[in-house]
Amino acid sequence: MRQGLTASPKVLHPKYFYDERGSTLFDQICDTPEYYPTRVESELLSAHAAEILALASPDNILELGSGASRKSRLLLDRWQPSGDATYLPFDVSEEMLGSVAADLEKEYPHLAIHGLAGDYTAGLDHVPDPLGRTLWMFIGSTLGNFEPAEASAFVSEIAGRMDRGDSFLLGTDLHKDEAVLERAYNDAQGLTADFNLNVLAVINRELQANFQLDRFSHLAYYCEGRRRIEMHLVSEADQQVYLEALDLTVAFSAGERIRTEISRKFLTGEIREMLEDAGLTVTRSLVHESFPFALTLATKT
Ligand code: SAH
Ligand code: AVI
Repeated sequence: MRQGLTASPKVLHPKYFYDERGSTLFDQICDTPEYYPTRVESELLSAHAAEILALASPDNILELGSGASRKSRLLLDRWQPSGDATYLPFDVSEEMLGSVAADLEKEYPHLAIHGLAGDYTAGLDHVPDPLGRTLWMFIGSTLGNFEPAEASAFVSEIAGRMDRGDSFLLGTDLHKDEAVLERAYNDAQGLTADFNLNVLAVINRELQANFQLDRFSHLAYYCEGRRRIEMHLVSEADQQVYLEALDLTVAFSAGERIRTEISRKFLTGEIREMLEDAGLTVTRSLVHESFPFALTLATKT
């Protein structure tokens, strides 16, 4: 937080969005008509779940950034493991993870549910290496929230953790019409704006700060050259904020921004290249026709 708020321009890591309220808001964004990625990825998963499971033939499914595990259920519903099987949802939002894991235990009594609470940007050292073949999943286009070099490094780290025969299912949003993209991050109900502003409430609570949320506004737009949505909070006035836990005063001028998220929109070639550079072999690439979005399955051979 200190690094980001004293940088120029100011920036915050998107992982800080996801306290209990942020996770709930994200879940609500997924139901808005404007936020097509969830709908479109669900359609791909529903249509191809059996094929993905047949190709990966997993004993375990380990999901990074699992959130509410809503789309994951589309795979879990069709998964008929031959022996003991475990689903391992991994998420930084401990509150969300706890309640989701409890629900999943009831819904899928034949599966062991092993929730992993943590920050995957801190490394995957503590991720257990479950027995048998594992399907690693990173869906929802959360990889798009990483800078290009970080994304490649993270995919390589995952590939490094995978055993031979394991698979990796990656969901990534693709470049498309700017108006469609911008609508998805500026929904009419204002849920994305609330999600964005909530990060200031997180800082207020966690670092005893005095951000006044009504003195900042939501801004999200597509940056065509970098093929990414950028989300910012714009200071409405000249103002100072004090973060007691850091003994830090941050000054904002009117119109100054904090960049809170990037959401990259990929080309299919880039995804293949990233997976292959990490030493994986792409076995299936599924692209939604009306709203370009890719689900890519790769294996470690
Ligand atoms: N996969 C779900 C949720 C996507 S939202 C879907 O497709 O709908 C992104 C999820 O990643 C959130 O649940 C958030 O809590 C989690 N997350 C974000 N940064 C994280 C980090 N650094 N470590 C672990 N989980 C993280
Ligand atoms: C989690 N992540 C992929 C979402 C995205 O689209 O970048 C987060 C989000 N931000 C605004 N709306 C949704």
